[in-house]
Amino acid sequence: MTQTPFKQFLFGGDYNPEQWPKEIWAEDMQILTDVHMNEATINVFSWAQLQPSEETYDFSTLDAIVETLTRANFDIVLATSTAALPAWLVTRYPEVTRTDYEGRHARFGGRHNACPSSPIFRFYGAKLAGKLAERYGHLKNVVCWHISNEYGGYCYCDNCAAAFRVWLRQKYGTLNALNNAWYTHFWSHTFYDWSEIVPPNALSDGINHDHNVVLSGMGIDWRRFQSEALLQNLKDEKAAIRQYDPDTPITTNMMGTFKDLDYFQWAKELDIVSWDSYPAYNTPHSEVAMRHDLMRGLKGGQPFMLMEQTPSQQNWQAYNATKRPGQMRALSFQAIAHGADTIQYFQLRQGRGGTEKFHSAVISHADHDETRIIRETRALGSELAKVGPQLMNGRIQAKVGLIFDWDNYWSLEYSSGPSVSLTYVDQIKRYYAAFYRQNTAVDLIPTNLSADQLARYDVVLAPVLIMVKPGVSDAIHQYVANGGTFVTTYMSGINDEHDNVIMGGYPGPFRDLCGLWAEEIDALPPHTAVPVQFGDTETGGSIVANVSHLEGAETIATYGGADYYANTPAVTVNTYGTGQAYYVGTVLDTAGMDVLVDRLIQDKHLDHFTTPADVELTTRHYPDYALHFLINNGNQTETVDTSRFAGMPTLIGDGPVQATTELAPYGLIVIQETK
Ligand code: GLA
Ligand code: ZN
Repeated sequence: MTQTPFKQFLFGGDYNPEQWPKEIWAEDMQILTDVHMNEATINVFSWAQLQPSEETYDFSTLDAIVETLTRANFDIVLATSTAALPAWLVTRYPEVTRTDYEGRHARFGGRHNACPSSPIFRFYGAKLAGKLAERYGHLKNVVCWHISNEYGGYCYCDNCAAAFRVWLRQKYGTLNALNNAWYTHFWSHTFYDWSEIVPPNALSDGINHDHNVVLSGMGIDWRRFQSEALLQNLKDEKAAIRQYDPDTPITTNMMGTFKDLDYFQWAKELDIVSWDSYPAYNTPHSEVAMRHDLMRGLKGGQPFMLMEQTPSQQNWQAYNATKRPGQMRALSFQAIAHGADTIQYFQLRQGRGGTEKFHSAVISHADHDETRIIRETRALGSELAKVGPQLMNGRIQAKVGLIFDWDNYWSLEYSSGPSVSLTYVDQIKRYYAAFYRQNTAVDLIPTNLSADQLARYDVVLAPVLIMVKPGVSDAIHQYVANGGTFVTTYMSGINDEHDNVIMGGYPGPFRDLCGLWAEEIDALPPHTAVPVQFGDTETGGSIVANVSHLEGAETIATYGGADYYANTPAVTVNTYGTGQAYYVGTVLDTAGMDVLVDRLIQDKHLDHFTTPADVELTTRHYPDYALHFLINNGNQTETVDTSRFAGMPTLIGDGPVQATTELAPYGLIVIQETK
């Protein structure tokens, strides 16, 4: 397993001193050092300053920033500044901006605005990255490259259309193959020349809104292509950096369950995953945890960087609550518990102007060091300075794997029918949250693991696995035959990799594995439920309900009510080889999910731990010890039965663990168990 590439626990964040007078920088260094910071992420949006015109570069300000930080002993995460275009570049070469879904070609402004297929953008973006690497790549305290920023958004311009056609030719070889894959005889879509193919947007194949396309196979290929085109931009910059700097790790900051980019593909190009966590005041704790686990999963469980979080409030949400006293610390430790080996903020000093001036920062508009944020940052910094090295490089040992896959994300949400309420991340979240309620660790995993790789899990969950790509069904069959437990649901096993239905009854390739076939999928009206009797528990299903016929499976939950499918199977289990396959026919409510997960936990002897709803227990394993992070994510005092850990020392806390532990609002302890 690859170790975290950093020598110390990085504590810092985005620092944009080019926005304020140089006289203030010394004060910044003094305050940031005093709160135990040791890292600054710089140069994220400075292209216009670094390159005032096509012919000239000016690194004087960046030189001064680097020098200031170096003198203050800061490590530097150096961004390449290519996430916002300079005005001169747009004026001279209009092709560098994007054409949007409505077909409107953008003028200058905003950020994250470059057409990924523009040769001019690609040339100048990579050139800038190369110049930065040549100038700063050798510096010892440049510890990481941060390419661009929060890649995302699509472009529908003519350059992208041309590049899409090249991509399609490479993929399909012949138009005949493409016509078959895309099912183009539908609505007279047959193509006779490559030039007839245009990006699916509001002017062409998009219907209703951008989640729907007449030919969903085309829509998914378009998303695959755009994700790869943006990734090519990253690769261009990476290659330019590597000409001058062969070793410094490279990352780009990601965004959790963000839809546009296939992050499993992206992670292959990164030395370390980093991401930006911005929960809203009402984001469930389980969802924050799941996003961390997804980011950890991108590189098979390697620790990641928490590249950005806000010290307190955001500016861009509808209601930007401040973080409550202690909440920033609790969220930081939650990130660490789930695999983060850095804690970084956006941003270190609050701006005076621009759209983010109400975004909180470590140093606020009050401009002194006696704020609540400063006090809380200093307290956290002092803890991390002490225990940081012991926190780094721990692994989460999950026995439950939950499949997350961008092709499936896109396929489910391109489905016109059966219900608009069926959205991908929401369905994945339900399964994650049910295990989170039991404090059972879950890994988020890709679809393409081999049976051997799956074998490390006692349970593999595949909710709404609507698209079954080549090899996936075989690996899962083998995993179950060898004793694994597989859980799948409604809307699984329906399409092939081109988004065309696999004939012969749902769930297609999983039919024999699950021992049933699903004939119909009912869609329930909003806010209605179908009763489901699950053992002794009366639960309910919503959104969709499969009407299934058994072919060997055993029914463990049955639809109630008076509808035509009353008394038919809602949840089943089938024995296959030495393993079992569950099929869940409807979106179970919380009680139903709990019955299912209890059963899996009992059957497979999965580790679990009872806590109040707002409290989580997450464990990271190290060669000689384990750390158990017991965190109160809520704003009430909670009491936890900690007899399992009684007598063990705490890395953070007041000495040996007692039989019960009281956690203040947002309070936490970290228990150290020696192996
Ligand atoms: C994103 C960006 C940052 C900043 C923050 C504000 O994560 O990467 O540049 O805009 O949001 O929350
Ligand atoms: Zn474009």
